Amino acid sequence: MALPRRTFLRYSSAFGAGLCFPAIVGAGSAGRGDVVNVALIGCHSMGWDDLAAMLQHKGVRCLALCDIDQRELVRRAADLSALQPEVPALFSDYRRVLELKDVDAVLIGTPDHWHCLPFVDACRAGKDIYVQKPLANSLAECDAMVDAARKHQGCVIQVGQQQRSGRYWQELVEFVRSGVLGRINRVQVWANFRYAVQAPPLPDTAPPAGVDYETWLGPARKRPFNSQRFHGSWRTCWDYGGGLMTDWGVHLIDIALWAMDVKTMPRRVLSSGGNFLFPQGAHETFDTLSVTYEFKNFVMTWENNAGVENGPFSKGYGLLFRGSDGYIVANRSGWDAYMGRGKAAKSVKGDGWANRESVANHTANFLQCVRTRDVNTACPVEAGSLCAKYAHIGNIGARAGVGSLVYDDRKRLFDHPEANKFIKPEYRAPWQFPE
Ligand SMILES: NC(=O)c1ccc[n+]([C@@H]2O[C@H](COP(=O)([O-])OP(=O)(O)OC[C@H]3O[C@@H](n4cnc5c(N)ncnc54)[C@H](O)[C@@H]3O)[C@@H](O)[C@H]2O)c1
Repeated sequence: MALPRRTFLRYSSAFGAGLCFPAIVGAGSAGRGDVVNVALIGCHSMGWDDLAAMLQHKGVRCLALCDIDQRELVRRAADLSALQPEVPALFSDYRRVLELKDVDAVLIGTPDHWHCLPFVDACRAGKDIYVQKPLANSLAECDAMVDAARKHQGCVIQVGQQQRSGRYWQELVEFVRSGVLGRINRVQVWANFRYAVQAPPLPDTAPPAGVDYETWLGPARKRPFNSQRFHGSWRTCWDYGGGLMTDWGVHLIDIALWAMDVKTMPRRVLSSGGNFLFPQGAHETFDTLSVTYEFKNFVMTWENNAGVENGPFSKGYGLLFRGSDGYIVANRSGWDAYMGRGKAAKSVKGDGWANRESVANHTANFLQCVRTRDVNTACPVEAGSLCAKYAHIGNIGARAGVGSLVYDDRKRLFDHPEANKFIKPEYRAPWQFPE
């Protein structure tokens, strides 16, 4: 009797260590062994890095690449030939990838406005998912994705917040929770990076040959093509991303919430911001943003200054946990704990800005969970959703410009109509919001 793919994977991982696996075959055949077959949707940058990291682990094959940019498909297929002997199928429509029975897991490396639909459709198709952060580009999409994961139970989901798999971050969380810092009253989070501002606006042009720009826009509103709103640069346009707040905020705020054991939205949020540093730039997202999140026993603040790269404690980005008996300053270079007034009482080295060890551990964790059918990954969808929603309410407060806000996570509403306008994006036909 042929076992269903998942059942076979479960049995084979329990009993099949050291098995030999047959060569890759075309779509439509049954799963066969402890090999995890993956497909990548969105190949230009981080999606490719995820795939390359995934292929460093044993027993992983890439069956398909999908992108709306033909140039990326050609480039990444060539890159892939150096990493595996098998030739992947190439697609421009992610829905065709989800029809491939042999594909166990999809990696979603598209811009933020293109996370929700492939994710929900992948849940429906019963695929495991490694989706990049921030989970989505709006509060409503985050909720829709958590809802879809709960409805189609059993899919193994990892959000690409690889810091959770960094040993030094895990040690930091343990240290903060140990109580050594005394009563923690303040968590400060900041990110200042040059890349998050743009040059003055360039003229719109025709899309480059080979680019299906209509599909790149997808559910977002129709706008002419502009290189300042395309590969990589989309981050600074509200329709597709949320600037430093959603790009770095989700990584760093995630650590703050995890260490402080926060699982719900804050009591209140107060944000202000604007483009004060580089007002002539084409970026829409705020180069200057300050957010205060209020909790019962402490406050957390976020600050970003885009276009500059310096910051508190000589760190362009990082976190501070301040307690009655000491404080910790941290970023990917590592962390130092200061007790009383003395010099660092404990220092732990990190894996640096590119955090390759964390990515390697995070992809390994995903593969392990896929093989053992363990849905408790290092960053499940709920954890990815929580910090993405923190980032979004921070941006929304400043965009709505209405002072302090309360977000009711049960009703999925703010206490102010102006802020509520930012909760759910209007999807452009033929794309439909996944209700
Ligand atoms: N975890 C991390 O440290 C980290 C680092 C960088 C980026 N990211 C995240 O990764 C995601 C991608 O970022 P990036 O910098 O690689 O963006 P990018 O613009 O460089 O690449 C996105 C790719 O997706 C493709 N694409 C767009 N719409 C598509 C669709 N409908 N179907 C198939 N392909 C489509 C684009 O053509 C492009 O090739 C973002 O969500 C970003 O926040 C995470």
